[in-house]
Amino acid sequence: MKTDYLIIGSGVAGLTYAVKLAEQFPERTVTIVTKADEDESNTKYAQGGVAVVLNVAEDSFQKHIEDTLIAGDGLCDRKVVEMVVKEGPKRLNDLITWGANFDLDPNGKLDLGKEGGHSEYRIVHHKDITGYEIEMALLKRVHKLDNIAIYNHHFALDLITEHHLKIPLTQNRTCFGAYVLDQKSGKISKIIAGSTLLATGGIGRVYGHTTNPVIATGDGIAMAYRAKARVSDMEFVQFHPTVFFDKSDGQSFLISEAVRGFGAYLRNKQGERFMPTYDERAELASRDIVSKSIDTELKNSGEECVYLDCTHLDMDKFKGHFPNIYEECMNRHIDIAKDWIPVVPASHYLCGGIEVDMQGRTSVKNLFACGECTRTGLHGANRLASNSLLEALVYAHNSYVYQSDKESVPTDIEIPDWDDKGTVINKEHVIVRHNIRKLQSLMQDYVGIVRSNRRLEMAAANLKLIYEEVEELYKRSKINTGLCELRNMINIAHLTIDQSRARKENRGGYFNVDNVI
Ligand code: FAD
Ligand code: SIN
Repeated sequence: MKTDYLIIGSGVAGLTYAVKLAEQFPERTVTIVTKADEDESNTKYAQGGVAVVLNVAEDSFQKHIEDTLIAGDGLCDRKVVEMVVKEGPKRLNDLITWGANFDLDPNGKLDLGKEGGHSEYRIVHHKDITGYEIEMALLKRVHKLDNIAIYNHHFALDLITEHHLKIPLTQNRTCFGAYVLDQKSGKISKIIAGSTLLATGGIGRVYGHTTNPVIATGDGIAMAYRAKARVSDMEFVQFHPTVFFDKSDGQSFLISEAVRGFGAYLRNKQGERFMPTYDERAELASRDIVSKSIDTELKNSGEECVYLDCTHLDMDKFKGHFPNIYEECMNRHIDIAKDWIPVVPASHYLCGGIEVDMQGRTSVKNLFACGECTRTGLHGANRLASNSLLEALVYAHNSYVYQSDKESVPTDIEIPDWDDKGTVINKEHVIVRHNIRKLQSLMQDYVGIVRSNRRLEMAAANLKLIYEEVEELYKRSKINTGLCELRNMINIAHLTIDQSRARKENRGGYFNVDNVI
């Protein structure tokens, strides 16, 4: 298949870019491949909202810029931060034009919430299901555009570069499209594209405890890494402080930071409100600080979780703002009006990823990337809450603007079919399942909120064993999604461990006990 624009992923990043290009160029073809149902994504589960400066009487771009820089702990790219923050209102307006609804205050203005690390109220939201509202509005728009084809349950395996063409490798590689597995038929096709955008989201599933849905296996970053694109800041995995603590190991559930913005307190089992002893901003310190403080409390007390206390809050208002959280807690036998919510930190977001410039260009020609799979320089060592949806919206727009005066013509070079000679159908799924569990607990235990040189060394040694076992299976197996995801997760773990070992000073979300002087 040939297409002008190939987009891998159907979250906020991929869909926004698709809509803009398809509207601008009705005569060009836009192809989206996505590995699950089209709405399944981290985007769909976003709760708190989008950080945008709107209340100019009290807030300002400068304040949002400073808050982002403080959270990023000296490692943000100031020019990027300024650009993203200033673009915010316009990009939010795109979403509103496309039909996304956000909550209004009694005066009919957008209602603004507050989250950790923000000095002002600036979180635009749709109750506590902001991501769902955005995803649905974007999909509706996509379905109206005839020149967008969206292929669900199509898994991108690898980017096509000179490596596959068996032509001499230049220093700067070019991307010609991707090999894609139709998960229902098992057929592997090549999609040849004028340009390709990776919008594959995060890596949460590399850890045993995460807020992320099952799609978040870092595929795009692993594909880019194999295509020799630059990937950096992988040590900055962000842990969200308040994820419902579920002993049964069921589906994890986030308790939005906006709940603390609404006035909830964190308490230990003795009922002590412990955050004021760690940071003067207390529960509204940035999330690296809150997560590390909880980790310290748990290590000192030997308890399994801390608690979020909402019992002093106005329950009618609470239910109005957070109906989904209220109901889900009730389903889990916690009545927020009377009970404290048991919470623990869990892996939530990757601040690093595929390096891109302000137009979303990677170091590989004709390969763009957008959203959580990228490292733009906005987040530095720690992302400020609700800056992620904003980043995806702004960068999708920037890449679209970059493309708008360019041609995007698929290559005429002959591209070989996917080569699976000598492979057989894998009947040993147990090897995949076993190694996923091993990998997740390795990352959880040795590459978590607080790291040490010894644990990182042990993680690298253990990962090598997992890698060897899985690589041997991969070489003799016909491709399937589970095996490819595991292989990608191993790539991600390798990058995270390696880049953690290289970091010799603690910044933001990165803390190694051996770096403390
Ligand atoms: P995603 O939305 O994750 O989309 C990735 C897409 O790529 C999916 O469609 C997936 O199926 C597809 N894909 C992946 N690999 C492949 C492959 N190999 N082949 C084909 N398709 C593939 N951020 C905020 O700013 N505000 C919030 O309030 C907020 N709340 C959050 C709450 C939760 C529970 C979570 C998990 C995250 C939250 N975030 C929030 C973070 C934010 O939602 C994400 O960073 C953002 O939505 C990422 O968008 P994306 O388009 O980059 O990726
Ligand atoms: C939340 O609602 O707490 C998540 C916000 C975010 O990840 O930015």
